[in-house]
Amino acid sequence: MVAISDLTPPRSRSTSVSTTNSDAALPSFESLAPPRPPTTKAAEETHVLVDGLKDVVKLKVDAGPGCGGIAWPAGEVLSRYIAYRHQINPSYLRNKKILELGSGTGLVGIVAGMLEPSAEVWATDQSILLDLMEVNAELNLPTSTTQRRNVHIAEYNWGEQVPSTIPIENIDVVLAADCVYFEPAFPLLVKTLCDLAPIGKEIEILFCWKKRRKADKRFFIMLKKYFNQYIIEDDKSGEKEIYNRQGVNLVKLVRKKQ
Ligand SMILES: C[S@@+](CC[C@H](N)C(=O)[O-])C[C@H]1O[C@@H](n2cnc3c(N)ncnc32)[C@H](O)[C@@H]1O
Repeated sequence: MVAISDLTPPRSRSTSVSTTNSDAALPSFESLAPPRPPTTKAAEETHVLVDGLKDVVKLKVDAGPGCGGIAWPAGEVLSRYIAYRHQINPSYLRNKKILELGSGTGLVGIVAGMLEPSAEVWATDQSILLDLMEVNAELNLPTSTTQRRNVHIAEYNWGEQVPSTIPIENIDVVLAADCVYFEPAFPLLVKTLCDLAPIGKEIEILFCWKKRRKADKRFFIMLKKYFNQYIIEDDKSGEKEIYNRQGVNLVKLVRKKQ
């Protein structure tokens, strides 16, 4: 396991955010990222169309629990990518154990579960988002119509131990969308990625994010010590150009050998 102290970020020049006290109350996403209109309004239902899914994804969104309560662009990009991979290779997610970090509304994990009923998905986030994620999982994968829902909602705070309900050793795929925005959480997220991908373990980590602030580079400097990044080149023709123009990037992370 990697100790968080090994991941201390370079000292920030910003005086507004402490990088040393991870227990401090978290400022809102909007106070840290340049303002941009959310893709949805507060407390409403929205539909996300993902090619390859028979049904639209119904999402209750609620800006109340913070930034994760609405759907962000990287989540939609990552959802479309896994759906495309599944379309060209239907066994891609078959029987896979999938973990989503910082799931927010639950979108990406729900899409994974809808694409492949034999997959087992854990959509995770902080406790404040769990009710919303549960509502969304139930909207799209109602327990009344499926014998057993294959998307589980779980609290997982980066930097902490993996909850015992998640079979960490057996996770095959890790998905993370729009999780780079809050500097004090950078070392926590890197530690979590290291915990999920110990040296030598075969695991696919798909990491999608939207470039926002210069400070986000610090995350990638920390990450580089432990992971190589490979740009996803096998997305549907033309997709990458579209999302890159919107500042969204999608990479595969591979743990370095040492
Ligand atoms: C910008 S939102 C992205 C939500 C979703 N992945 C999407 O693309 O719509 C970032 C998410 O990371 C979660 N997050 C932030 N810090 C976290 C931490 N320390 N542990 C777990 N989740 C965290 C937030 O609660 C939020 O849901």
